[in-house]
Amino acid sequence: MNSIEKTLKELSQVMAAHRRALAMDGAPAPIPAPVFEPAPAFALDDPRAAAVHGLMHDVQRIAGIQVSDVLEQKIVRLFAETGADELDSWIRHLRLVPDDHPQWQALVESLTVHETYFHRDRPQLDYLANTALPAIIEHVRRTGRRSIRIWSAGCATGEEAFSLAIIALDAMVRAGCADELTNSGIHLRRGWSIDVLGTDISETALRRAKHAEYSTGSLSSFRDLPQDLIRFFPAVEFARSGGTLEPSLRRVRDDVRRIVRFRPFNLIASEPPEFGFDIIACRNVMIYLAPSAARTVQQVLHDALRPGGYLLLGPTDSLARPSHYEMVAGTSTLVHRRREMPE
Ligand SMILES: C[S@@+](CC[C@H](N)C(=O)[O-])C[C@H]1O[C@@H](n2cnc3c(N)ncnc32)[C@H](O)[C@@H]1O
Repeated sequence: MNSIEKTLKELSQVMAAHRRALAMDGAPAPIPAPVFEPAPAFALDDPRAAAVHGLMHDVQRIAGIQVSDVLEQKIVRLFAETGADELDSWIRHLRLVPDDHPQWQALVESLTVHETYFHRDRPQLDYLANTALPAIIEHVRRTGRRSIRIWSAGCATGEEAFSLAIIALDAMVRAGCADELTNSGIHLRRGWSIDVLGTDISETALRRAKHAEYSTGSLSSFRDLPQDLIRFFPAVEFARSGGTLEPSLRRVRDDVRRIVRFRPFNLIASEPPEFGFDIIACRNVMIYLAPSAARTVQQVLHDALRPGGYLLLGPTDSLARPSHYEMVAGTSTLVHRRREMPE
C-alpha cells in the first residue's frame, strides 16, 4: 500500500470514529484523535500545508463540502507522513481525472457524515402524514395523475427515503387508495403509484440503502421509530439477550422496498436528476456545505419541486429564495410549500 492509499484509509478511520461519536451525541462532535500514532502537523510554510489547502478547495468545488479549519488541520496531520513530492504528484494526477473518479470519491467519502435514522424529526413527518399528503392525494386525484413522487436528497443509508415511503403508503390507506393485508402488506388500488427516489453522493452509503437491512439496538436506526411502525421491518436475524431471543437485524418490508429506488447524485449540479416531485426532503445535508454550494443545492431542489409541492429542510437550514415558498408548518418543523407563482 503506498503512502497516499494509507492516508486515505486512515482518513476513513478518523471519519468513521467521528460518525460513531455523532451517533452517540446526535450533534456534531469534535473529530476524535485518530486510532494510529499521529504524526506532527507540518509547519505553515511547509509546501504540503498549501497542497492540502488547495485539495480541500477542490473538494469544496466538487461536493460543496465546507472545509473547516479543524477538519483541515486533521487532514494536514494525516498527510504528514507523505512526502511533499508524492503528495504534489498525487494531487496533480487527481486534477487530471474526472470529478467522479474513485480517488475523488474516496476523499469525498472520507469527509461526508452519513449519520441518519428512521423518522428523524417527527413533527415534520406528522405534518406530512396529517396535512400535506392528504392534500397531495386530493390534488393528484383531481388532476387524474394518481401518482405521488418523493425525493430524499442526501439520503445517506436510506432511512429517510424508507420513512417517507412508509408515511406515504399509510396515507394512501387512510385515503382509501390502498389496502393493508396482514400477510402481504400494503397494496395500492388499481391505477395508483408511489415513487420514492433516494440519492446521495456516497456510493458506499447507497449500497447499504439498497441492501435495506439495519441492525437493532439503542443507538441504531430504529432509535426514534414509533412502535406501531416496527411492522414495516420484519426481523431477519436474532441474538440471545438475557435468556431470550431478540431481533438483531431487521429488513425493510417488500411493499416499502418496491416503491423506493436509489441512485447516486451530486447535489452540486446544474439541474435535478428528475422533475415534478410532490415532496422533497433535503435534511442535514446543507449544514455541511459552503454557503454558495447550499444556494446551488436550493436551486436544484426548487427546479425539481412542482409548484404546490412541499420542501422539507433541516432545522438549521434557511431558505435561499423565501419569496418562492410559503411556510406551512410553523418554525420548528420547517415545511415549506412552493408557491404556484413567486410573490
Ligand atoms: C447527515 S446525512 C443526512 C441523511 C438524511 N438526510 C437525514 O437527515 O437523516 C448527509 C448526507 O449528505 C450527503 N451529501 C453531502 N454532500 C453531498 C452532495 N454534494 N451531493 C449529494 N449528497 C451529499 C452525504 O454523503 C451524507 O450521506
